[in-house]
Amino acid sequence: MSGVREGDGRIGVLFVCLGNICRSPLAKVIFAERVARADAGALVRVDSCGTGGWHAGEGADPRSVKVAAARGLQLEHEARVLHHTDFTSFEYLIAMDRSNRKNMLTMGAPRERVHLMRSFDPLLAGSSESEMDVPDPYYGGEEGFARVYDMLDAACAGLWARIERQLRSKS
Ligand code: 4NP
Repeated sequence: MSGVREGDGRIGVLFVCLGNICRSPLAKVIFAERVARADAGALVRVDSCGTGGWHAGEGADPRSVKVAAARGLQLEHEARVLHHTDFTSFEYLIAMDRSNRKNMLTMGAPRERVHLMRSFDPLLAGSSESEMDVPDPYYGGEEGFARVYDMLDAACAGLWARIERQLRSKS
């Protein structure tokens, strides 16, 4: 549903994972940095959440904080659970993996607003969806978080290119 700007009038981008402490907070801080660099904060709103609420109220996983800091980004975060009002206040509902997407659709997310994060990575164009999951790094080591960071960074570049085009076409 391109062009829909509910909520506060900005284009809303919501990154969604399972626990909202590892992947989606990182996606948010990486994408927010791109928005800030383009001085587009008045036009684009960025947030993250999880389909599960076990970690609601907590900060990001220390391994996400560490990998963000290593790339020069300060990750401040308070985890929250996905709410059905998000489905109308965000234009882009971006799932980290197919399981997150399934949970979102089960909760009633409008299919046309739901995307897989890595579908925005230009290098994955034409790949099958089975290659597009951002793997859950929670039960692994720090190297998994570095790999996730790189995947998110590449996808954020493609997502920003798309939103920049959208902003240009509206201006
Ligand atoms: P995330 O990772 O979905 O990337 O935040 C997880 C964090 C916590 C759990 C699972 C995944 N957990 O089961 O507690």
